[in-house]
Amino acid sequence: MKTTQKLYEGKAKILYATEDPQVLVSYFKDDATAFNAQKRGTIADKGRINCAISTHLFQVLEDKGIATHWIDSPSEREMRVKAVKILPLEVVVRNIAAGSLCRDTGIDLGTLLESSLVEFYYKNDDLGDPLLTRDRLLLLNLATPEQLTQLTQLAQQVNHILKDFFQQCGITLVDFKLEFGLDPQQTLLLADEISPDTCRLWNQSETDASRRVMDKDRFRQDLGNVETAYQTVLDRVVAQSAKI
Ligand code: TMP
Repeated sequence: MKTTQKLYEGKAKILYATEDPQVLVSYFKDDATAFNAQKRGTIADKGRINCAISTHLFQVLEDKGIATHWIDSPSEREMRVKAVKILPLEVVVRNIAAGSLCRDTGIDLGTLLESSLVEFYYKNDDLGDPLLTRDRLLLLNLATPEQLTQLTQLAQQVNHILKDFFQQCGITLVDFKLEFGLDPQQTLLLADEISPDTCRLWNQSETDASRRVMDKDRFRQDLGNVETAYQTVLDRVVAQSAKI
């Protein structure tokens, strides 16, 4: 893919400009970090796997009417995306208690949440991506009240679609993180990636709390077999995508 200059290098991806100012290329790396980059490593082939999973999931969402930044995926690790201004927010949706929800509230791991939780975190590494209240988010002008309403609705719609899709894959969508951007017309587009790096995914054919994990928690918690788990998610996503 013909790119021009490197615009930004993040922990898992590099963003390049192209000859078209409205189009960027997102390159998926094998680098993995956790705990605000205090833990670093690589997951063999992660870039290829996450690019492929994200590609399939963005297509599933587009088919259901969710506007995303995805244009196409010209190579195994590259995605052409619409140039958007990313909101400095991590929108997390939770269906089952895990991770920081358990740590911060004492709710038991695996507790089914009666209705899904939509939470906003400040995307700011220096501050450690803190959980925001609605008032703090508005105080910091991170979004308008209208955008906040729309983001919540979009996150719930995405959850509905992805929960259903993963269910068909024999995978439970425990929680996930989304990022959104604004295009030049100020339309909100779903951006970044959706992959085992950004979701918690539990294999429904495993009951053991470690064996069921198919996502980055395998890396975070040193559970081993990270590549195999990611590849299994891809295989199931590909198989399910072929059915619809
Ligand atoms: P948490 O339980 O650690 O708050 O994570 C919630 C979800 O968000 C989980 O699916 C992992 C994802 N996530 C990211 O994609 N990036 C991050 O930096 C963090 C902390 C979580």
